[in-house]
Amino acid sequence: MLQTCVRTGSALINIMASAAMKAARGLTRDFNEVENLQVSRKGPGNFVSAADHRAEKIIYQELQKSRPDFGFLMEESGEVPGHDKRHRWIIDPLDGTTNFLHAIPHFCISIGLEFDNEILAGVVYDPIKNEIFHAEKGKGAFMNERRIRVSARPYLEDALLATTRVVNKSVSKTTDQLFQQTMNLGKKTAGIRQYGAAALDLCYVAAGRFDGFFAYGLAPWDIAAGLILVREAGGYVTKLTGKGSFFETGSILASNAKLKDLIVKELLEETPLL
Ligand code: IPD
Ligand code: CA
Ligand code: CA
Repeated sequence: MLQTCVRTGSALINIMASAAMKAARGLTRDFNEVENLQVSRKGPGNFVSAADHRAEKIIYQELQKSRPDFGFLMEESGEVPGHDKRHRWIIDPLDGTTNFLHAIPHFCISIGLEFDNEILAGVVYDPIKNEIFHAEKGKGAFMNERRIRVSARPYLEDALLATTRVVNKSVSKTTDQLFQQTMNLGKKTAGIRQYGAAALDLCYVAAGRFDGFFAYGLAPWDIAAGLILVREAGGYVTKLTGKGSFFETGSILASNAKLKDLIVKELLEETPLL
């Protein structure tokens, strides 16, 4: 699998993919264990948190070995500055933690590479479905060996959208609006999914599975890799609220060009915050 899935990628993509796959071996073993712990009274909470940290450590060590000077931004360990101030890995070792905790097989590892504050490359690996998504600036987006593109659906009524819960407390008042928006768009589209792994939601937009994805208050590690996947697959990523970069607001809409304005119009109808 490793050889075939990265045949379409550069040396950088290979480094990222192999770090993700190495960490995924442990995560997959741990996921099987979670299925057993599910029935215990204490539940698998602490175990999952340990699995998350273990995966991050493996990714960190692998990437550090290959590019010793690059900096890091990791969900669990935070910022680790590098000698090279221009390159930074942005890592979510386990996106979809709540799914993992509930033994639902929908989670991934997400690794983005930033260069001068712009995302240069991204890898997202879903070990259960054995799907690896990768993209590099100017080189297209891929799933396993296949080139992927955003959907061409032009009409809202045919569109399948996705959203995800706001977790960031500073934007928690957005939760009610997200609910209103979901209700509104739910009636006007083919449906709204909430699968609970934002990095995979973005990859599914890139692969044309979802026609759009909107969310507020996401963290940089939720979106770094997915952003470049959507763009390299021919899609748009639009900021929904606030000033500053995507990473500062975490509020994004990803979709094809035809649906972008239609979705924004519907979202605006439901919230004065936009
Ligand atoms: C979460 C997921 C989820 C989103 C949350 C994130 P985690 O990441 O991406 O879809 O709604 O805001 O925190 O905690 O599973 O890494
Ligand atoms: Ca995480
Ligand atoms: Ca996450």
